[in-house]
Amino acid sequence: MKLWGGRFQKETDGLVNDFNSSIEFDARLYGQDIRGSIAHAVMLGRTGIIEPAEADKIVEGLNAILADIEAGQVEFSQDNEDIHMNIEALLTRRIGQTGKRLHTARSRNDQVATDFRLYVKGEIPRIIGLVLELERVLVKKAKAHLGTVMPGYTHLQRAQPVTFAHYMMAYANMFRRDVTRLEDCRERLDECPLGCGALATSTYPVDRFATAEALGFAKPTDNSMDSVGDRDYAIELLSALSILMMHLSRFSEEVILWCSWEFRYVELDDAFSTGSSIMPQKKNPDVAELVRGKTGRVYGSLITLLTVMKGLPLAYNKDMQEDKEPVFDAVDTVELCLPVFTAMLDTLAVRGDNMARAASVGFINATDCADYLVKKGVPFREAYMIVGRLVNLCMEKGKTLDTLPLKEFQAVSGLFDWDVYDALRLRTCVNGRKVYGGPSEDSVKKQIAQIEEFVAKRG
Ligand code: ARG
Repeated sequence: MKLWGGRFQKETDGLVNDFNSSIEFDARLYGQDIRGSIAHAVMLGRTGIIEPAEADKIVEGLNAILADIEAGQVEFSQDNEDIHMNIEALLTRRIGQTGKRLHTARSRNDQVATDFRLYVKGEIPRIIGLVLELERVLVKKAKAHLGTVMPGYTHLQRAQPVTFAHYMMAYANMFRRDVTRLEDCRERLDECPLGCGALATSTYPVDRFATAEALGFAKPTDNSMDSVGDRDYAIELLSALSILMMHLSRFSEEVILWCSWEFRYVELDDAFSTGSSIMPQKKNPDVAELVRGKTGRVYGSLITLLTVMKGLPLAYNKDMQEDKEPVFDAVDTVELCLPVFTAMLDTLAVRGDNMARAASVGFINATDCADYLVKKGVPFREAYMIVGRLVNLCMEKGKTLDTLPLKEFQAVSGLFDWDVYDALRLRTCVNGRKVYGGPSEDSVKKQIAQIEEFVAKRG
């Protein structure tokens, strides 16, 4: 008979049994479930809701079950539907009648809400740790390439010169925000739903502050229906992970482009690329492509849970059992992608020579040429038009601005002099951009220091 079989006169249909059960995927919550049950049992004993000696017996039994699960000695059963009932059934099988007292003043609704919050709360620091590893590698790469000039792009057209260090710090800033988004999520979810019961708490004198504290939550949740009826914290996690994957995916896209013969800005380490079974010359950026591809799974998880929740009346509905797989899959995916991406980035070789070559064509110093005239008193809009004419002239003659003879400059504007070649040198263009947040060496050093401080604060 089912633990909930009191009013039932027929066995559950086999199809329903399989359909209803979640043990296949929620078994991984056994640790959180046992922790929650121990906190609950201790509280039941301390408040006198059950005999303290019985509470002790329950705690002992739960600890033994935990040890056995960890030793791989426990098989869960579909008949017991989910992890909560599996553990309760095991307990009762082991310690008899006393085991049946554990579920006093509790429902699976507050139980699962507690387990799932504990799970999400526990994964966030792990993911943050992995992002911080990536930040460390970004800092390392940036420090090694403060002077490596490359084209910066808009519309994927060469735009203005930047450095590889500046580029790396752009991503470092995105990932820093990802960390703070995860921290915010963790802070907001740090409330314990245990004791909310099915939806309306109970008539027992449960001490929710005690269980919240025992489980390491900042406080109990404030409304019982909300506590068992929402999963917004899981949606927040999935949103934060989706944004993180979006950043990783864009970065992957850049790596893929940079590896192509068209760019040749970087070369992947042999250990982090793959070959083709037919084309002997190939070296493929599979890691970056898979990270880009797996982003779809994480977005999918977010949309799944948003959709599961959107039409649910308060409070708990069985639909909510569908919260776990998308969250597990997203967490697993992110935890799989981050370390391999970080290692790939760490080992990739930067081809500064190719970046410099690409930067030398495409007129990425045209803005600087206009600024040169502005410094000599020409209004910017006018200077812009003059340089536009020069760019056209260069294209006709197959020249770059730096190789155009001075007399050609002077034919367009008498204000040009020999020092224009200084102003057009890419390193001058980059290091002239000393504005806060800009690509000059000093600016980027500040950005590196900011990221280093952020990482150091988090250990
Ligand atoms: N397996 C369920 C879930 O994951 C646990 C809660 C079930 N509660 C209920 N009233 N059927 O959501």
